[in-house]
Amino acid sequence: MRFLLDREEITVSVVGLGYVGSCVAVSLADNGVDVVGIDVDASLVEEMDAGRCRLKEPGLPELVARVRETGRLRVTTDYAPVSEADVVVVAVGTPVQENGALVETQVRSAATEIGRHLRPGQLVIFKSTVPPGTTRDMVAPLLEGGGLTCGEDFGLAFCPERLSQGNALAEIRRLPVVVGGWDARTGAAAERFWRSRLGVETVSCSSIEAAETVKLLNNWWIDHNIALANELARYCSAIGVDAMEVIAATNEVPKGRGSINVLSPGVGVGGSCLTKDPWMLWRSARERGVHLSTVVAAREANDAMPGYVAELVTDGLAALGTSADRSRVAVLGLSFKNNTGDLRATPTLPVVSALREAGAEVAVFDPLADPDEIRKEFGLEPSAGVEEAVAGAHCLAVLAWHDEFAELDMAGLRALTAPECLFLDGRAHFDDQTIESLTGLGFTYRGIGR
Ligand SMILES: NC(=O)c1ccc[n+]([C@@H]2O[C@H](COP(=O)([O-])OP(=O)(O)OC[C@H]3O[C@@H](n4cnc5c(N)ncnc54)[C@H](O)[C@@H]3O)[C@@H](O)[C@H]2O)c1
Repeated sequence: MRFLLDREEITVSVVGLGYVGSCVAVSLADNGVDVVGIDVDASLVEEMDAGRCRLKEPGLPELVARVRETGRLRVTTDYAPVSEADVVVVAVGTPVQENGALVETQVRSAATEIGRHLRPGQLVIFKSTVPPGTTRDMVAPLLEGGGLTCGEDFGLAFCPERLSQGNALAEIRRLPVVVGGWDARTGAAAERFWRSRLGVETVSCSSIEAAETVKLLNNWWIDHNIALANELARYCSAIGVDAMEVIAATNEVPKGRGSINVLSPGVGVGGSCLTKDPWMLWRSARERGVHLSTVVAAREANDAMPGYVAELVTDGLAALGTSADRSRVAVLGLSFKNNTGDLRATPTLPVVSALREAGAEVAVFDPLADPDEIRKEFGLEPSAGVEEAVAGAHCLAVLAWHDEFAELDMAGLRALTAPECLFLDGRAHFDDQTIESLTGLGFTYRGIGR
């Protein structure tokens, strides 16, 4: 088989234009590749066709508008253009059920539709996170449904996505892409594709299954590392030691081929990946008789953080001589992580719910999140601005810190709060100097692990 991707001018079809697919599609188009994006969501396609983007990823709406204007990106709900493509990249959603089992619908329907339009020489690259074995055992037979044979007529590779929201467009052009091919030749073709069209390094795996497992190990490690930081923070609070100091000192010391890299504690772990991928791995292991106790332990530790943060607020209010049911709490930042407006599985929601259950009046503000989504998820009318949120507040709780908050006039905000006001740092974000200036303004500072 001769791969079509080695021609100078190629067309790439990106199937699934969510977070990952949009970023991949616009980055390739921006690099001069002709891209056809395909998604079953007609309203999303209509928006992108008009050069708009609903995702709150920094730089993404601007890039969508730009590549639509240059004509390098076309978008459609129709699968027919798959037959024009030289490479087909798939980034449909892969949610899991309560028990960790993959919800297969999106993968199955995408693979079936692509299979109907495949032609010889094409390379299909799966990016959706799946339980190891899925690409070979489920995807390949569905792709072959159109009559072509995998490995003979077309190529199939698995290349996990590592981008993290808030920094996606930079990471997509910087992070090496892990590649596992159906066979060595296909793996090498996929590596040529990413190197030449996206300008990134590649890391080769000897099998599709190894590459699938790399993705799950990534998120297992991140979730576990954050759980470690969170439990350390709780312990440090109990012994009166600053967890951030301990982490910084620990991370300074070389270990093995690198250094220990303990991440930061925080309000909890959310988003669409870290909350599901460890369970996907756990389930896949369980089906083979292997119990991954560290997955369970990390998920439990991280899921306990919103409750812990709500307690920090209620305890802090009590120390100020008031109680939650007589207090107003202003929450700044609602997204699951800093510098994104994504509210999917955000750990800030259970914090807000617990505070409201304790009787607090809660005002919420997040300049990056969609106001309609805030209304839907939180059942609250978002404050129009930070001043409105903090007016009369007994606690200012920072649960996600966005870069634009750095412009906030803390002295001005302090003037609007109640006379006694708790400052809750839910992301262990502030350095000693800032904490000092906050306390200088009369805030009572409390942070996770501090
Ligand atoms: N979001 C992240 O930061 C991230 C990071 C790394 C990996 N991943 C993984 O990448 C994959 C995609 O994630 P996402 O966040 O972009 O998901 P998403 O839910 O934002 O997007 C999925 C898109 O696929 C579309 N779709 C569903 N079925 C389709 C079909 N049959 N044909 C065409 N389009 C279809 C949906 O309409 C949606 O727009 C998942 O497997 C996820 O685990 C996500």
